[in-house]
Order: sequence, then structure tokens, then C-alpha cells
Amino acid sequence: MSDIAANNASAPKHVAVIMDGNGRWARARGKKRHAGHRAGVNSVRATVELAAERGVSYLTLFAFSSENWQRPKEEVSSLMSLFIEALRREVGELHRNNVRLRFIGAREQLSERLMRRIAEAEQTTAKNTGLMLNVAVAYGGRWDIANAAQVLATRVVSGEIDAADINEEALAAEMQLGGTPDPDLLIRTGGEQRISNFLLWNLAYAELWFTDVLWPEFDKAEFDKALAYYAEKQRRFGHTGEQVEEAKC
Ligand code: IPE
Ligand code: IPE
Ligand code: MG
Repeated sequence: MSDIAANNASAPKHVAVIMDGNGRWARARGKKRHAGHRAGVNSVRATVELAAERGVSYLTLFAFSSENWQRPKEEVSSLMSLFIEALRREVGELHRNNVRLRFIGAREQLSERLMRRIAEAEQTTAKNTGLMLNVAVAYGGRWDIANAAQVLATRVVSGEIDAADINEEALAAEMQLGGTPDPDLLIRTGGEQRISNFLLWNLAYAELWFTDVLWPEFDKAEFDKALAYYAEKQRRFGHTGEQVEEAKC
């Protein structure tokens, strides 16, 4: 099958999700923001399950952005505690379901404890062959690009490569998701239609799907709506519609 035909399969290979709306969900119920984040863990579980059921190979979830460090201290620390707790509770089940877990982002900015949990979770699930679950924590798309540029610049300085060797492939390989196919579909809950510094490099050709549903209320039925939207799309990658049709035959 040609690349373009493969990229027009009805199920996306890689789905990325901006899980937004926890705070508003909590506020609408007279609860603290933290209650919204806690409730959001249930939506993560449902999303991972449905992705596996629908044959998605890669799922990348935006859990905490570079910019989220600017939130009130109390919210940041309760989120970090929640990540630790969620890892403690969920990794066993993920492992039983053959899910492979990987974290992307500036992990050195995280506490020792969280870094340790992350490393353990990655090790435990490293050999699994089912869904690849990427969780973006302390992640920013601009940080990711700058980081990859720095890696390549260091190689030029050491004489390992020439400046002329820096091209799209070389940069892509050094991005956090290097080696992973680009997301086919981006889902954002919570009503905003923006990227908020998520996978700036990798989302170049993703189909975008936005819903007003707040993250704690996102469920399998809502996820299926996004997949149905995706299945209807003709992905042209700059080609003409006729070229895409021909490639399918
Ligand atoms: C998304 O929900 C979770 C994180 C960014 C950590 P929000 O906390 O942004 O929820 P809203 O947008 O305030 O409703
Ligand atoms: C994006 O949500 C980040 C995550 C979901 C982790 P935000 O709530 O931080 O996005 P903005 O600030 O409204 O754009
Ligand atoms: Mg938000």
C-alpha cells in the first residue's frame, strides 16, 4: 500500500489528545479544581481502553504543559501528587493489558519521586507490544523543537555531523516522539480550538477535532464521534483528491 493510501485508512494509527476542561467541570459542581483533575483520571482510563479496542497503535495524552507551571502552587503540587497516585494505581492494569507507557517532556523538572515512578512504569511496560501510550508532562512543543536543535548543534560542534546534515529527518528523529508516526487525529476537549503548545512539529498534518465536552465527561461514545469524523476525511498531504483516489486502487 502506498503511504498516502495507508494514511487514508479509516482508523487513525496515532491519536493525540489535549485533555482540557477539568477546572470548569469542577467549578460547575461547586468543587475545587483538584476534584476535576481527579475525575479526569477516569476519562483517561476510558480513552486508553477505547483506543486499544479500536486498534489505535499510539495514543499521546497532554497531561501538563510547560506553561502549566505558572498555575497556583497548590494546584501544581496537587497535580504532581495525582500523577504519582495515578501511576501507582494504574500501571498494573495497563501492564496486564499489554500497554507500553512512555513519558515525554522535561522530566528533569519533576520531583525525584515522580521521576522515579515514571522510570519504573516505563521499565515495567517496556516489552509490551499493545497500545503505545505516551503521556506528555512538563511538555511544550517549542521546548521539544529547541531541545532537538540543541542535540544536533552539539553533534555539529563535536564534528559528528555537518551543519548541512541538519534536515527535517534529522530534527524529527531527535524530537520526543522521534520514531513514532505523526498523530493522524488531534482531539481537544473543553471547547477551546487551539494547540496550546502541544506537539507543534508532529501535528503538521493531523486532522483536528474539537468538542465542548469537558474532559471529565469525555467517554467512549464521544471518542467514537471523533473517530467517525476522522474516518470521513480525505487526507491529501498536498496532493489532489484525484491522486488520493488513484492511490487507493
Ligand atoms: C486540563 O484542565 C488539565 C490541565 C491543564 C492540567 P484545566 O485545568 O485546564 O481545566 P480548565 O480549562 O480550567 O477548565
Ligand atoms: C492545555 O490546557 C494543556 C493540557 C491539557 C495539559 P490549558 O488549559 O493549559 O490550555 P490554555 O492555557 O487554556 O491554552
Ligand atoms: Mg484549561
